[in-house]
Amino acid sequence: MSVRRLAEQQPESFAFTPENEALCAKEIAKYPAGRQASAVLPLLWIAQRQNGGWLPKPAIEKVAEILGLPRIRVLEVATFYTMFNLAPVGKYFIQFCGTTPCVLRGAEAIKAVLQRRIGAAGQVTADGLFSWTEVECLGACCNAPMVQINEDYYEDLTPENFEALIDNLAAGRPVKKGSQIGRRTSEPLGGLTSLRGLYGVDGLSGPQTYHGPPSEGDESAAESSFAAQDEPPGEPATERLNQERRHRKGQPLDSIVDTGTRRTGVAVSQPGVKASRKAAKSESSSLQNGEASNSSEQESED
Ligand code: FES
Repeated sequence: MSVRRLAEQQPESFAFTPENEALCAKEIAKYPAGRQASAVLPLLWIAQRQNGGWLPKPAIEKVAEILGLPRIRVLEVATFYTMFNLAPVGKYFIQFCGTTPCVLRGAEAIKAVLQRRIGAAGQVTADGLFSWTEVECLGACCNAPMVQINEDYYEDLTPENFEALIDNLAAGRPVKKGSQIGRRTSEPLGGLTSLRGLYGVDGLSGPQTYHGPPSEGDESAAESSFAAQDEPPGEPATERLNQERRHRKGQPLDSIVDTGTRRTGVAVSQPGVKASRKAAKSESSSLQNGEASNSSEQESED
Protein backbone atom coordinates (compact mmCIF):
# COMPACT_ATOMS: atom_id res chain seq x y z
CA MET A 1 0.00 0.00 0.00
CA SER A 2 1.26 3.43 -0.85
CA VAL A 3 1.65 6.33 1.60
CA ARG A 4 -1.63 8.19 1.89
CA ARG A 5 -1.23 11.95 1.90
CA LEU A 6 -3.62 14.84 1.48
CA ALA A 7 -3.78 16.35 -2.00
CA GLU A 8 -1.52 19.34 -2.59
CA GLN A 9 -4.32 21.46 -3.96
CA GLN A 10 -7.06 22.05 -1.43
CA PRO A 11 -10.25 24.13 -1.50
CA GLU A 12 -10.50 27.13 0.81
CA SER A 13 -13.39 25.82 2.83
CA PHE A 14 -16.02 23.12 3.17
CA ALA A 15 -19.58 23.27 4.49
CA PHE A 16 -22.20 20.54 4.56
CA THR A 17 -25.38 21.18 2.58
CA PRO A 18 -28.51 21.53 4.77
CA GLU A 19 -29.61 18.01 3.68
CA ASN A 20 -26.26 16.52 4.62
CA GLU A 21 -26.19 18.48 7.88
CA ALA A 22 -29.48 16.80 8.78
CA LEU A 23 -28.01 13.43 7.74
CA CYS A 24 -24.98 14.04 9.99
CA ALA A 25 -27.26 14.91 12.92
CA LYS A 26 -29.15 11.66 12.32
CA GLU A 27 -25.90 9.66 12.36
CA ILE A 28 -24.65 11.37 15.52
CA ALA A 29 -27.97 10.70 17.28
CA LYS A 30 -27.35 6.95 16.88
CA TYR A 31 -24.67 7.07 19.58
CA PRO A 32 -25.06 7.68 23.32
CA ALA A 33 -24.15 11.03 24.87
CA GLY A 34 -20.40 11.46 25.08
CA ARG A 35 -19.79 8.88 22.32
CA GLN A 36 -20.49 11.10 19.29
CA ALA A 37 -16.91 10.51 18.12
CA SER A 38 -18.13 7.11 16.92
CA ALA A 39 -19.93 8.90 14.09
CA VAL A 40 -16.62 9.88 12.51
CA LEU A 41 -16.78 7.29 9.70
CA PRO A 42 -20.32 8.06 8.48
CA LEU A 43 -19.65 11.82 8.65
CA LEU A 44 -16.47 11.51 6.61
CA TRP A 45 -18.36 9.33 4.14
CA ILE A 46 -21.13 11.93 3.79
CA ALA A 47 -18.49 14.63 3.28
CA GLN A 48 -16.73 12.57 0.60
CA ARG A 49 -19.95 11.89 -1.30
CA GLN A 50 -20.88 15.59 -1.22
CA ASN A 51 -17.44 16.54 -2.50
CA GLY A 52 -17.48 14.42 -5.67
CA GLY A 53 -15.81 11.33 -4.25
CA TRP A 54 -12.81 12.70 -2.33
CA LEU A 55 -12.08 14.24 1.07
CA PRO A 56 -10.44 17.67 1.15
CA LYS A 57 -8.66 18.89 4.28
CA PRO A 58 -11.36 21.47 5.15
CA ALA A 59 -13.95 18.66 5.15
CA ILE A 60 -11.85 16.64 7.60
CA GLU A 61 -11.57 19.73 9.80
CA LYS A 62 -15.32 20.35 9.58
CA VAL A 63 -16.03 16.80 10.77
CA ALA A 64 -13.58 17.31 13.68
CA GLU A 65 -15.35 20.54 14.59
CA ILE A 66 -18.81 18.95 14.53
CA LEU A 67 -17.72 15.99 16.66
CA GLY A 68 -15.58 18.07 19.04
CA LEU A 69 -12.49 16.04 18.22
CA PRO A 70 -8.88 17.13 17.74
CA ARG A 71 -8.25 17.45 13.98
CA ILE A 72 -5.45 14.91 14.10
CA ARG A 73 -7.86 12.22 15.32
CA VAL A 74 -10.08 12.65 12.26
CA LEU A 75 -7.07 12.95 9.96
CA GLU A 76 -5.80 9.61 11.30
CA VAL A 77 -9.11 7.96 10.39
CA ALA A 78 -9.29 9.56 6.95
CA THR A 79 -5.75 8.54 6.05
CA PHE A 80 -6.09 5.01 7.44
CA TYR A 81 -9.17 3.78 5.57
CA THR A 82 -8.75 3.35 1.82
CA MET A 83 -12.47 3.96 1.34
CA PHE A 84 -11.59 7.64 1.70
CA ASN A 85 -9.93 9.27 -1.27
CA LEU A 86 -7.57 12.06 -0.34
CA ALA A 87 -7.24 13.50 -3.85
CA PRO A 88 -9.77 14.20 -6.64
CA VAL A 89 -11.14 11.20 -8.54
CA GLY A 90 -12.96 10.87 -11.83
CA LYS A 91 -16.74 10.89 -12.18
CA TYR A 92 -16.33 7.13 -12.61
CA PHE A 93 -13.91 6.00 -9.94
CA ILE A 94 -12.75 2.46 -10.71
CA GLN A 95 -11.41 0.22 -7.98
CA PHE A 96 -9.57 -2.59 -9.68
CA CYS A 97 -9.15 -5.83 -7.71
CA GLY A 98 -5.57 -7.06 -7.99
CA THR A 99 -5.71 -9.94 -5.51
CA THR A 100 -4.75 -13.52 -6.39
CA PRO A 101 -8.12 -15.05 -7.46
CA CYS A 102 -8.76 -12.13 -9.82
CA VAL A 103 -5.19 -12.28 -11.13
CA LEU A 104 -5.57 -16.03 -11.80
CA ARG A 105 -8.69 -15.24 -13.84
CA GLY A 106 -7.08 -12.55 -15.99
CA ALA A 107 -7.02 -9.33 -13.93
CA GLU A 108 -3.68 -8.35 -15.44
CA ALA A 109 -5.35 -7.93 -18.83
CA ILE A 110 -7.99 -5.70 -17.20
CA LYS A 111 -5.24 -3.63 -15.61
CA ALA A 112 -3.62 -3.21 -19.02
CA VAL A 113 -6.91 -1.79 -20.35
CA LEU A 114 -7.05 0.67 -17.43
CA GLN A 115 -3.50 1.82 -18.06
CA ARG A 116 -4.10 2.22 -21.78
CA ARG A 117 -7.50 3.90 -21.58
CA ILE A 118 -7.14 5.98 -18.39
CA GLY A 119 -3.45 6.21 -17.55
CA ALA A 120 -1.55 5.55 -14.35
CA ALA A 121 -3.37 4.73 -11.12
CA GLY A 122 -4.55 7.90 -9.35
CA GLN A 123 -4.55 9.95 -12.55
CA VAL A 124 -7.83 11.58 -13.65
CA THR A 125 -8.58 11.70 -17.39
CA ALA A 126 -8.60 15.16 -18.98
CA ASP A 127 -12.39 15.09 -19.33
CA GLY A 128 -12.69 14.32 -15.60
CA LEU A 129 -14.61 11.13 -16.33
CA PHE A 130 -12.30 8.35 -15.15
CA SER A 131 -9.68 7.49 -12.57
CA TRP A 132 -8.68 4.18 -11.05
CA THR A 133 -6.84 2.60 -8.19
CA GLU A 134 -5.81 -0.93 -7.30
CA VAL A 135 -7.41 -2.48 -4.22
CA GLU A 136 -7.37 -5.78 -2.38
CA CYS A 137 -10.08 -8.43 -2.69
CA LEU A 138 -13.57 -6.94 -2.96
CA GLY A 139 -15.23 -10.22 -2.04
CA ALA A 140 -16.56 -11.18 -5.47
CA CYS A 141 -13.79 -13.67 -6.30
CA CYS A 142 -16.27 -16.23 -7.66
CA ASN A 143 -17.00 -13.85 -10.54
CA ALA A 144 -13.39 -12.79 -11.05
CA PRO A 145 -11.94 -10.70 -12.50
CA MET A 146 -13.94 -7.71 -11.38
CA VAL A 147 -13.85 -4.00 -10.63
CA GLN A 148 -15.99 -1.67 -8.55
CA ILE A 149 -17.08 1.53 -10.27
CA ASN A 150 -18.41 4.08 -7.78
CA GLU A 151 -20.74 1.94 -5.67
CA ASP A 152 -21.41 -0.94 -8.10
CA TYR A 153 -19.61 -4.16 -9.01
CA TYR A 154 -18.82 -5.22 -12.61
CA GLU A 155 -17.81 -8.86 -12.83
CA ASP A 156 -16.69 -11.63 -15.19
CA LEU A 157 -14.63 -9.10 -17.09
CA THR A 158 -12.67 -9.70 -20.24
CA PRO A 159 -10.56 -7.05 -21.95
CA GLU A 160 -13.28 -6.81 -24.62
CA ASN A 161 -16.33 -6.44 -22.39
CA PHE A 162 -14.42 -4.09 -20.06
CA GLU A 163 -13.48 -1.79 -22.94
CA ALA A 164 -17.11 -1.81 -24.07
CA LEU A 165 -18.13 -0.92 -20.51
CA ILE A 166 -15.75 2.05 -20.47
CA ASP A 167 -17.00 3.16 -23.90
CA ASN A 168 -20.61 3.05 -22.72
CA LEU A 169 -19.87 4.99 -19.54
CA ALA A 170 -17.95 7.61 -21.50
CA ALA A 171 -20.83 7.98 -23.97
CA GLY A 172 -23.41 8.17 -21.16
CA ARG A 173 -25.10 4.98 -22.34
CA PRO A 174 -26.75 2.66 -19.81
CA VAL A 175 -24.53 -0.13 -18.54
CA LYS A 176 -25.24 -3.48 -16.98
CA LYS A 177 -24.10 -3.93 -13.40
CA GLY A 178 -22.86 -7.27 -12.06
CA SER A 179 -21.76 -10.06 -14.37
CA GLN A 180 -20.89 -8.95 -17.89
CA ILE A 181 -21.42 -12.40 -19.39
CA GLY A 182 -24.97 -13.04 -18.26
CA ARG A 183 -24.13 -15.16 -15.24
CA ARG A 184 -26.86 -15.00 -12.63
CA THR A 185 -25.40 -13.85 -9.27
CA SER A 186 -22.50 -16.25 -8.62
CA GLU A 187 -23.95 -19.48 -9.93
CA PRO A 188 -21.54 -21.89 -11.69
CA LEU A 189 -20.84 -20.96 -15.30
CA GLY A 190 -22.17 -24.27 -16.65
CA GLY A 191 -25.42 -24.12 -14.66
CA LEU A 192 -26.37 -25.44 -11.26
CA THR A 193 -24.58 -28.48 -9.89
CA SER A 194 -26.72 -28.91 -6.78
CA LEU A 195 -30.39 -28.35 -5.85
CA ARG A 196 -31.12 -29.06 -9.47
CA GLY A 197 -34.56 -30.51 -8.87
CA LEU A 198 -35.57 -27.47 -6.86
CA TYR A 199 -34.58 -25.15 -9.68
CA GLY A 200 -36.05 -27.17 -12.49
CA VAL A 201 -32.89 -28.82 -13.82
CA ASP A 202 -33.45 -32.27 -15.19
CA GLY A 203 -30.67 -34.31 -13.62
CA LEU A 204 -32.36 -37.64 -14.27
CA SER A 205 -32.19 -37.93 -18.02
CA GLY A 206 -30.38 -36.34 -20.93
CA PRO A 207 -27.98 -33.38 -20.74
CA GLN A 208 -28.38 -31.06 -17.76
CA THR A 209 -30.24 -27.95 -18.68
CA TYR A 210 -30.67 -24.96 -16.43
CA HIS A 211 -34.13 -23.52 -16.73
CA GLY A 212 -33.64 -20.63 -14.32
CA PRO A 213 -34.91 -20.15 -10.78
CA PRO A 214 -38.50 -21.01 -9.92
CA SER A 215 -40.96 -18.19 -10.27
CA GLU A 216 -43.43 -17.67 -7.48
CA GLY A 217 -45.89 -20.52 -7.38
CA ASP A 218 -43.46 -22.91 -9.07
CA GLU A 219 -42.11 -24.16 -5.77
CA SER A 220 -44.98 -26.54 -5.25
CA ALA A 221 -44.21 -28.06 -8.66
CA ALA A 222 -40.56 -28.52 -7.69
CA GLU A 223 -41.68 -30.00 -4.39
CA SER A 224 -43.91 -32.55 -6.02
CA SER A 225 -41.08 -33.40 -8.43
CA PHE A 226 -38.94 -34.27 -5.38
CA ALA A 227 -41.75 -36.19 -3.84
CA ALA A 228 -42.36 -38.07 -7.07
CA GLN A 229 -38.70 -39.17 -7.14
CA ASP A 230 -38.92 -40.62 -3.63
CA GLU A 231 -42.40 -42.07 -3.50
CA PRO A 232 -43.33 -45.57 -4.65
CA PRO A 233 -45.21 -45.46 -7.97
CA GLY A 234 -48.88 -44.81 -7.62
CA GLU A 235 -48.77 -42.91 -4.33
CA PRO A 236 -50.05 -39.31 -4.54
CA ALA A 237 -46.91 -37.71 -3.09
CA THR A 238 -48.05 -34.10 -2.91
CA GLU A 239 -51.31 -35.05 -1.25
CA ARG A 240 -49.37 -37.00 1.38
CA LEU A 241 -47.12 -34.01 2.08
CA ASN A 242 -50.16 -31.79 2.42
CA GLN A 243 -51.74 -34.26 4.83
CA GLU A 244 -48.55 -34.21 6.90
CA ARG A 245 -48.65 -30.43 7.02
CA ARG A 246 -52.32 -30.37 8.02
CA HIS A 247 -51.60 -32.98 10.65
CA ARG A 248 -48.74 -31.01 12.17
CA LYS A 249 -50.35 -27.58 12.08
CA GLY A 250 -50.70 -26.28 15.60
CA GLN A 251 -48.80 -29.16 17.23
CA PRO A 252 -46.05 -28.26 19.72
CA LEU A 253 -42.60 -29.02 18.32
CA ASP A 254 -41.69 -31.61 20.95
CA SER A 255 -44.78 -33.62 20.07
CA ILE A 256 -43.29 -34.35 16.64
CA VAL A 257 -40.96 -37.31 17.04
CA ASP A 258 -40.66 -38.48 13.47
CA THR A 259 -38.23 -35.95 12.09
CA GLY A 260 -37.36 -37.25 8.63
CA THR A 261 -36.86 -34.14 6.53
CA ARG A 262 -37.10 -33.79 2.79
CA ARG A 263 -34.90 -31.46 0.81
CA THR A 264 -37.91 -29.19 0.57
CA GLY A 265 -37.66 -28.66 4.31
CA VAL A 266 -41.01 -30.37 4.91
CA ALA A 267 -40.94 -32.76 7.84
CA VAL A 268 -42.38 -36.14 6.87
CA SER A 269 -42.99 -39.28 8.83
CA GLN A 270 -40.66 -42.28 8.90
CA PRO A 271 -42.80 -45.40 9.18
CA GLY A 272 -40.17 -47.25 11.24
CA VAL A 273 -40.01 -44.51 13.87
CA LYS A 274 -43.76 -44.20 13.96
CA ALA A 275 -44.23 -47.97 14.39
CA SER A 276 -41.67 -48.21 17.20
CA ARG A 277 -43.29 -45.23 18.92
CA LYS A 278 -46.68 -46.95 18.68
CA ALA A 279 -45.21 -50.19 20.06
CA ALA A 280 -43.57 -48.32 22.98
CA LYS A 281 -46.86 -46.56 23.72
CA SER A 282 -48.90 -49.76 23.79
CA GLU A 283 -46.22 -51.50 25.88
CA SER A 284 -46.30 -48.68 28.42
CA SER A 285 -50.12 -48.71 28.62
CA SER A 286 -50.23 -52.50 29.04
CA LEU A 287 -47.62 -52.19 31.81
CA GLN A 288 -49.80 -49.61 33.50
CA ASN A 289 -52.84 -51.86 33.15
CA GLY A 290 -50.81 -54.79 34.44
CA GLU A 291 -49.67 -52.81 37.47
CA ALA A 292 -53.23 -51.69 38.07
CA SER A 293 -54.57 -55.26 37.92
CA ASN A 294 -51.69 -56.53 40.06
CA SER A 295 -52.41 -53.99 42.72
CA SER A 296 -56.15 -54.76 42.65
CA GLU A 297 -55.31 -58.49 42.96
CA GLN A 298 -53.12 -57.66 45.95
CA GLU A 299 -55.89 -55.57 47.52
CA SER A 300 -58.42 -58.43 47.13
CA GLU A 301 -55.92 -60.88 48.68
CA ASP A 302 -55.50 -58.53 51.64
S1 FES B 1 -9.76 -11.54 -5.45
FE1 FES B 1 -10.82 -10.13 -6.65
S2 FES B 1 -12.73 -10.03 -5.69
FE2 FES B 1 -11.63 -11.38 -4.44
